[in-house]
Formats: sequence, structure tokens, C-alpha cells
Amino acid sequence: MYKHFLRPILFGFDAEKVHYFVVNLLKTFCKFPFAKTILRNLFEVKNPILQRNVMGLSFKNPVGLAAGFDKNAEVISEMEALGFGFVEIGTLTPKPQEGNPKPRLFRVSDDSALINRMGFNNKGVETAAILLAKRKSKIIVGGNIGKNKVTLNENAVDDYLTCFEALFEVVDYFVVNVSSPNTPNLRALQEKEPLTNLLQTLQQKNLAKLQPKPILLKIAPDLTDSQLDDIVEIVQTTKIQGIIATNTTIDRTNLQTPTAMLDEIGAGGLSGKPLSLRSTTVIRYLRQKLGKDTVIIGVGGIFSAADALEKLEAGADLIQLYTGFVYEGAGLVREINEAIVKKYD
Ligand code: FNR
Repeated sequence: MYKHFLRPILFGFDAEKVHYFVVNLLKTFCKFPFAKTILRNLFEVKNPILQRNVMGLSFKNPVGLAAGFDKNAEVISEMEALGFGFVEIGTLTPKPQEGNPKPRLFRVSDDSALINRMGFNNKGVETAAILLAKRKSKIIVGGNIGKNKVTLNENAVDDYLTCFEALFEVVDYFVVNVSSPNTPNLRALQEKEPLTNLLQTLQQKNLAKLQPKPILLKIAPDLTDSQLDDIVEIVQTTKIQGIIATNTTIDRTNLQTPTAMLDEIGAGGLSGKPLSLRSTTVIRYLRQKLGKDTVIIGVGGIFSAADALEKLEAGADLIQLYTGFVYEGAGLVREINEAIVKKYD
């Protein structure tokens, strides 16, 4: 129904406007009595086989909503009703920011992909924290944190600390995002020295708490093997819980979309099908280097149950979707959970 009826209509309009339209429609619909029950009946798969205990947290299924879709924590319970097992909010920054000039989100349909250069548009960490404090839904929520555009890299640690403290009581795990291609120079924070410093500082604050929270690092798919080796070393020395692999790519090779069209779209992170193989390769590499105790959340180009199973078999403990959810609809979440039940029953 989504792919053949709704999607052709939605894809006729500006991608970012459609995003807000759909999110608002969902929010409004879910205010009606029984609306969430209807969605649950349509999309939720309930089975103990789906449950995962990861990082000391209990997930009702391993399929999560990736960061960027619900930046401001506005539709968490709605996403739960659509069948997701966890939701990652953000990327949030200390101060609200507009993000890059529009248009900044593009469909690349010939490749089943999206290109975005949103630039961490968000309402600021405090606004999200207030909403999260009021939430009734018990679904696991991850807080993906970043820095404001105007903050220099040498002061970035302060921004991450501000977000960490603001969200500490209201999220279940943290994600340190240093891998977005859309904040100038952010990815330089993936270098060994600044990254070790950032994670060490956060982890120190975390371990001083009565009940520390899991911290994960979200990485780019464009890192070389030797950069991945550095990441492995840093994760082990700072003793953070795990890695989210991967964010969007700046790579544009092997696409079906004409170069002229890609040039017209311009800079940004590419997500969706073309990312799938690279992100699975990164997951497999990391799993082999890290052993079984470090958590890996696999994300990038999951469009089918087979794609999801491939990520899990490559070593991911949990998976996340964004672009596949846009292209395939919530039926994809159900399809993946059903396939996991079938495979591991
Ligand atoms: C993203 N992604 C993202 N990631 C992140 O850590 N913080 C963010 O704010 C965003 N924002 C964002 C916006 C848009 C429009 C897209 C398409 C993606 C990246 C996302 O979480 C995921 O890592 C990649 O998109 C790869 O997964 P998919 O989309 O191929 O399933």
C-alpha cells in the first residue's frame, strides 16, 4: 500500500517538506483514541525471540530508528507503534540551530538513496530533554549528540559535555557523533588524538555517575582500514560500550544517477542502498577486530529483511534504518522482525 499508493504521491513533493508533513500527520493521527493500537496491530511483531539484552538494556526487538529522523524527540511513542524496538534522537547540539540553507535533502531515486546536508538543524538539547522527561513510552531511547556549527573543534568537548549532562537522566544510551559530513571540520574529530580526548572526558564524567550510561561512537563509512584500527584501539582504551557503523558517505562512485544530476545536488551525505555493502564490510571488519564484547549497531542501506539479516550476521547486535524506512515504509520494520523470528525460531 505504501510503496504503490502513498509513496508515488509523497515523492512528488520536496523531500524535507514531505518529512515534516508525514511526521505531523502521524502525530495528529496518534492523538485519536486507539490510533496507536491500530498501528501496533498493523506493524508490531511480538515475540520473545526478538528481545535483545545489549549494554545492560532490554530491547523488545533489534530494529531501531536511526538518528536524524526524530532529531527533537517528538515522535518516540509513534515510532514505537510503528514497530521499532528503539529510537535514536538527535543529533542534538547545545544551542538550537537552523542548519544549512534549503534545499538540503534530496531523493536519488535511481539509486534508492538520499543525499542530505541538513547540518544538524535541531531545537537544542534542552527542548528535547524537556520532552523526554515527559514521555510515557518505555521504548529504549538513544541520545545522539554533537556540537554547534559555530563551536571551534578545540572547544568541541564542551558542547558534547553540555549535551551529555542535559540528556543524562532522560536517555538510555549515548551516541557521540563525529561523523556527519555536513558540519564543517566535524570529521576531523575522528582523528586519534581529539577523539581519544573527547571520549575519555565523556567517559570520566559518565563513570563518576551513580549509574553510568552506555556510550557509543558513530563512525563514517569513509574511514580507511588503518583509521578503523585506530578507532578500535580508542574504543578499547576509553572502554566505551560500542560503535554505530555507519553514518552517510561522501563517496559518489558506482551510482546509476547521472553525474550532472549529482553535481546539481552538490555536497552532502549519501544514504540508502549504495551504502549497504560498505557499511556491512565495516561492521564485519570491526567485529573481527573487537571480539564479541563490544557492541556494534549496524546501519546503512537496509531495504529488506535479507539486508537486515546480513548486517546481523556480519556482527551487528542491533540494526537501524532511515532511508529504507523512507522508501519502503513501516512495513519494512515488520518484515525484518518477522524474518528474524522465522530464522531464529
Ligand atoms: C541522517 N543521519 C544522521 N546521523 C546522525 O548521526 N545524526 C544526524 O543528525 C543524522 N541526520 C540525518 C538526516 C538525514 C536526512 C539522513 C538521510 C540521515 C544518518 C543516519 O542516521 C544513518 O546513519 C544513515 O542514513 C545510513 O543509514 P540508511 O539511511 O542508509 O538506513
